[in-house]
Amino acid sequence: MSENLTGNRILVIGGARAIGAELVRRTEQAGAEVVVATRSGPDVRIDVTDEATIARAAATLGAFDHVISTASAHHDVPVPDLEHDKIQAAFAAKVVGPLLLAKHFGPRMPAGGSFLFFSGIVGWQPKPGTVVKGTANAALAALVTHLAVELAPLRVNAIAPGVTDSGTWDRLADERRRALYDKAAAASLAGRVGTLEDVTDAALWLLGAGWVTGETIHVDGGSRHP
Ligand SMILES: NC(=O)c1ccc[n+]([C@@H]2O[C@H](COP(=O)([O-])OP(=O)(O)OC[C@H]3O[C@@H](n4cnc5c(N)ncnc54)[C@H](OP(=O)(O)O)[C@@H]3O)[C@@H](O)[C@H]2O)c1
Repeated sequence: MSENLTGNRILVIGGARAIGAELVRRTEQAGAEVVVATRSGPDVRIDVTDEATIARAAATLGAFDHVISTASAHHDVPVPDLEHDKIQAAFAAKVVGPLLLAKHFGPRMPAGGSFLFFSGIVGWQPKPGTVVKGTANAALAALVTHLAVELAPLRVNAIAPGVTDSGTWDRLADERRRALYDKAAAASLAGRVGTLEDVTDAALWLLGAGWVTGETIHVDGGSRHP
């Protein structure tokens, strides 16, 4: 990939680790000026569930060509175990947060600018224990289409990764992580899980794809088509 982002100013929310951190590295390598925001700060603090942090950042950081958010909050439990606060947190990260980013950053962005959000394969693979994540991911796909219409000519897109070895699964014990990867690889047409490069290749392409808007791009090795 040789996207040239020279002259672009990009905000990456969730840019301290996993896919977000690799996006920071790749966009900087492509020549962009990149600002990294995390919910803990200390340099730039944005918690997408806290509108005041979004409003403050939008008012003080100057204009961005592209605003990216990888934010997510997990609540993977069967229906009888659902907790109201955790349901709300999941939707706050993936649905309400992007709406508030559009509200505060959108009016300050140039016509060629774009938002890029992260959905996920579970939105298209209903299975027990993932109703919250699945619904939030699917809602995000609807959201980018609606926002793309309302914010045009700004572009609004999402990436829906399949299971990706991003670092986020390192929280699992080795054996459980290996089992997850083996199962996901077997269920994909590509026969493997995703890499950081797979996902960030798609992200860099989307940032420059001036005729693509309102879309959710599935970067999942064909895992929705077993
Ligand atoms: N990796 C996969 O297999 C996979 C599969 C499908 C979809 N996805 C989606 O791809 C995106 C990136 O995933 P990932 O693999 O990089 O790992 P992840 O653990 O889901 O990363 C989430 C990122 O969002 C940040 N974040 C969480 N809540 C936030 C909030 N309220 N405000 C601001 N930032 C917040 C986290 O920062 P902290 O350090 O503060 O927690 C972290 O950097 C996520 O939306 C995820 O759902 C990933």
